[in-house]
Amino acid sequence: MSRASLTDSFGRRIDYLRLSVTDRCDLRCSYCLPKGFKGFTEPTHWLTFDEIERVVAAFTALGVHRVRLTGGEPLMRRNLTELVERLSVLPGLDDLSLSSNATQLESLATPLARAGVRRLNVSLDSLREDVFRQITGGDLQQVLRGIAAARKAGMNPIRVNTVVMRDVNDTEIENILDYCSAHGFTLRLIETMPMGATGQVNATTFSNLELIKQRLEQRFTLIPDILFGGGPARYYRVAGTDTRLGFITPISQHFCATCNRVRLSVDGTLHLCLGLDQRYPLRDLLHSGISALELQTHLCLAMALKPERHTFNEQFEPTTRFMSMTGG
Ligand code: GTP
Ligand code: 5AD
Ligand code: SF4
Repeated sequence: MSRASLTDSFGRRIDYLRLSVTDRCDLRCSYCLPKGFKGFTEPTHWLTFDEIERVVAAFTALGVHRVRLTGGEPLMRRNLTELVERLSVLPGLDDLSLSSNATQLESLATPLARAGVRRLNVSLDSLREDVFRQITGGDLQQVLRGIAAARKAGMNPIRVNTVVMRDVNDTEIENILDYCSAHGFTLRLIETMPMGATGQVNATTFSNLELIKQRLEQRFTLIPDILFGGGPARYYRVAGTDTRLGFITPISQHFCATCNRVRLSVDGTLHLCLGLDQRYPLRDLLHSGISALELQTHLCLAMALKPERHTFNEQFEPTTRFMSMTGG
């Protein structure tokens, strides 16, 4: 029997859900959350684990087979391990992954891996204590211990995300690549997107990864490669090594034509695009006790709202939403 599937009005198959389990975070990365930010969602508006499980089950019944847990920082949601245990056994879900800042992984990596998190993407913007603190407000060593704990717990692959910022960390990329090579991690470089009040980048100040790639090619030979996951990165293997390097270029070369994902925020809003505001609220529907089939019908209807592409690269107006609402 062929399974039902979700398709948007541009014929794109949606098989990847990014599930934000909290909008809170213990860091304050300069491109994501402003210091002193007070506008977090009230706990009374958070979806419960039961509600999250209902939504994810409706998605998997419609052919979504990848779910990524995001935040804010997902590990700030209490008892996340219990949610992972519940989601990891849902039929049809074959890829349950986590995007984390790693601050809490030293204690949580093992229980999360046991509960069913297989692969991990971690943010790491600098290997210099002072620069790391300047960007994130956090402690580099705590994050490195968290990443080491994830590797020890068997999470694989581990992908390191570095948001490249001109004159802040753009001279460190070779160092971060060496660190990733030494530990068997894949490095992904990311162009800063103008999100929320902290979106200070514009057409002339953003760090164009095409130029960074040209610089790296003076030292390394990069061979095009394809990695598991269906995400937005374009990958290369560094010749003579097993190291993979990915480029995520929402500004210089956007990848919307192959977009396969939607996002659920902690208040039960389905966001159809990272960069635009089309949304479909599910929380009241869930509270009203709709059936699993009715929920699936709403998900199919919501797909019609998915826009063709974001406009980050045309207008650098910060969008109305902070990145921490949807976790990237
Ligand atoms: P994989 O499954 O490992 O490919 O994950 P991923 O790269 O999709 O997830 P991750 O949470 O590590 O996100 C990496 C970067 O890609 C972040 O900066 C995200 O904001 C960005 N990103 C993820 N999905 C999209 C998207 O649909 N559009 C845009 N513009 N950026 C995205
Ligand atoms: N632009 C690009 N990437 C961002 N992230 C957070 N905010 C932004 C932004 N404005 C990244 C984080 C994390 C990933 C999930 O999203 O660095 O690694
Ligand atoms: Fe927190 Fe991630 Fe935003 Fe940094 S990018 S403030 S770690 S949610």
